[in-house]
Amino acid sequence: MRYLIYVSRNLIEPHATCAEMERIVAGALQRNAALRITGALVTAGDRNLQYLEGPEAELAELMRSIVRDPRHEQVQVIADRGVQTRRFPNWRLAYCGGSEVVRRTILAAADDAAKGGRDWTDDLIDVVEDCIAFPYLSD
Ligand SMILES: Cc1cc2nc3c(=O)[nH]c(=O)nc-3n(C[C@H](O)[C@H](O)[C@H](O)COP(=O)(O)O)c2cc1C
Repeated sequence: MRYLIYVSRNLIEPHATCAEMERIVAGALQRNAALRITGALVTAGDRNLQYLEGPEAELAELMRSIVRDPRHEQVQVIADRGVQTRRFPNWRLAYCGGSEVVRRTILAAADDAAKGGRDWTDDLIDVVEDCIAFPYLSD
């Protein structure tokens, strides 16, 4: 088994980041499971950091896809080493970054408040508490 860490420059437009990252994570949850890969992805502004671990051949196959993905550039491998045990055995892909679910809740509250709708306090406090308690959104 190997692990690999890379950093890259995100090319997704800021306004589209939440939705596009959700698409990437949704696809990754399926493909990583099929390839027996686990790991984590952190996105902050125009930078990505990803940690991946799994069987050598499967990891190499996944990295070939990731490197040619036009949604980022300057993929810079920081470490690529053999490893005995997984660091993230329970995470097909833990994700920390802008969330489409959070964005949609904020938008819904704003739209509804503009119409004089119901009290959104509980929903918005839930969002705040989830962000504090579970900064990693995954399956
Ligand atoms: C920053 C970043 C991280 C990604 N991480 C994964 C991942 O962990 N697993 C995955 O299957 N695809 C991931 N993708 C998507 C792949 O690059 C690729 O689009 C997908 O695996 C489909 O592969 P294919 O284009 O060779 O069909 C990531 C893409 C980006 C931009």
